Amino acid sequence: MRLTLKIWRQAGPDVAGDFVTYQVDDVSGDMSFLEMLDVLNEQLNSEGKEPIAFDSDCREGICGMCGLMISGLAHGPEVTTTCQLHMRSFSDGDTITVEPWRADAFPIIRDLIVDRSAFDRIIQAGGFITVNTGAAPEAHSVPVPKANADRAFDSAKCIGCGACVAACPNASAMLFLGAKITHLGEVPQGQPERDSRVVKMVAQHDHEGFGGCTNIGECSAACPKEIPQDVISTLNKDLRTALRHGY
Ligand code: SF4
Ligand code: FES
Repeated sequence: MRLTLKIWRQAGPDVAGDFVTYQVDDVSGDMSFLEMLDVLNEQLNSEGKEPIAFDSDCREGICGMCGLMISGLAHGPEVTTTCQLHMRSFSDGDTITVEPWRADAFPIIRDLIVDRSAFDRIIQAGGFITVNTGAAPEAHSVPVPKANADRAFDSAKCIGCGACVAACPNASAMLFLGAKITHLGEVPQGQPERDSRVVKMVAQHDHEGFGGCTNIGECSAACPKEIPQDVISTLNKDLRTALRHGY
């Protein structure tokens, strides 16, 4: 395939950015989107030009580091991560626009890299359980009903990629937050801090500048881990309960 790429270039957080057009030849359908960008960067290096900065780590769809807005869609046209998107999803002659996540709470660091440490601060606010130190207890000493275990596991699949924020017109992180609240709220170990957790995490979410949820559903549609929108209902229910309890 021969592709035209319009890629957002921005030298730093405080300078203006713009789209720059590149041609890439000999793109195989078996390449991942990031491998295709690697090929472009080798091309730029050999021409003595500055390569394009983008994030990645595992390249296996499990770490949440990668994330690009590809022709207006978070992670591109498939329900997967950018690193697991393959070029067979595109056709010879296509023009593809590549942008970083756009959200005030995710400031651009350089080119396609954004600062997602706001997610870390939300987790630090309450996305954990307090456990005694020492040896791990026998797993079967705390029974968990199968339905709760399954929902906790499904919610724990969130990899913190930020696609939900990028896809949301309000730049809300409620799907991410709902996934974390649901994952911990479904298991017995998550109960002691359940009320304080939701209040602190929602306060941090708002403090970071993420928007509110207005039930549009773009977050869930863009999520590579198919986190369902009903985790946001669980989040709101937990918040109402905590406020009723005086938190
Ligand atoms: S909810 Fe989905 S889209 Fe949002 S951060 Fe988690 S995995 Fe990414
Ligand atoms: S690089 Fe780890 S999920 Fe894409």
